[in-house]
Amino acid sequence: MTQPAIVKAKIHSVRPVAVGHFEMLLESSQLAAADPGQFVHVRTPGTLRRPISFSRLDRVHGRAGILWQVVGAGTGWLSQQPTGGRLDVLGPLGRGFPAPEADRPWCLIGGGVGIPPLFAALQIWGDSVRAPITAVLGARRGDLLVMVDDFRNRIGDVQVTTDDGSQGGQGTVLGPLAHWRARHPNGQIYACGPTPMLAEVAQLCRGVERVYLALEQRMGCGVGACLACVVLAQGKQGPEWRRVCHDGPVFAAKELVW
Ligand SMILES: Cc1cc2nc3c(=O)[nH]c(=O)nc-3n(C[C@H](O)[C@H](O)[C@H](O)COP(=O)(O)OP(=O)(O)OC[C@H]3O[C@@H](n4cnc5c(N)ncnc54)[C@H](O)[C@@H]3O)c2cc1C
Ligand code: FES
Repeated sequence: MTQPAIVKAKIHSVRPVAVGHFEMLLESSQLAAADPGQFVHVRTPGTLRRPISFSRLDRVHGRAGILWQVVGAGTGWLSQQPTGGRLDVLGPLGRGFPAPEADRPWCLIGGGVGIPPLFAALQIWGDSVRAPITAVLGARRGDLLVMVDDFRNRIGDVQVTTDDGSQGGQGTVLGPLAHWRARHPNGQIYACGPTPMLAEVAQLCRGVERVYLALEQRMGCGVGACLACVVLAQGKQGPEWRRVCHDGPVFAAKELVW
């Protein structure tokens, strides 16, 4: 695992990718060596750092992507940073996804800004998985969907859902996931998205051995010191607190107490 450090990374590019969503490429081989599912803590003026997952990891050119939705001051400021400028990030942080098993069907389930870390996983491991790979990508509306073409450029089976039916099938990612799970009882599932979606993925896939969820939680320090980000998990002696920033953000679904 790459050791976290403060990196003043050069901004290679920033571009809008959907309504209120931007993606930035940072030049840094150290960040590009991160595991999919890890994140950076971005310094923004006058506020705590802001956690954002890696959306792509280009180890050949030494570039790492981050993709965010503008929701407040920190992400708003980030979207105004110029190409060629420098961004102060602490990372790579946390524990990312484990490598998928090569011979198990693999399903990537992403909701909203939960989609980007799954693309990083596909980019790094897609070629090593010999079994079929499926992606199910969902958003509230079609104009909020991100990275669908990136997935389609790599795999054939990309299913899209929107709550209002404006793109793909109407409904949530859970419908296609239920079908996939019935067809592939021994498959492996990686998911990232809003907490209610992850809770339903965990419920639907109960009993499946390899289900990994990337959680989002409000964060303070980002490095395991302040306990702002804890979630309840199954310990050896009963439920215990785990830090999303340090012990996660990726957890096996069976570890978590909902
Ligand atoms: C490990 C991790 C990875 C993340 N990866 C991404 C990513 O790849 N792309 C992305 O767009 N966002 C991601 N987030 C969420 C992102 O960190 C927040 O949207 C951001 O910190 C908001 O900062 P702000 O100053 O713009 O908004 P604020 O002014 O701080 O908040 C604005 C609104 O966003 C909500 N919000 C703030 N932080 C979070 C959070 N952590 N989870 C849920 N809601 C929040 C607030 O409740 C409020 O309603 C991630 C969060 C975590 C913990
Ligand atoms: S944010 Fe401080 S312990 Fe996780």
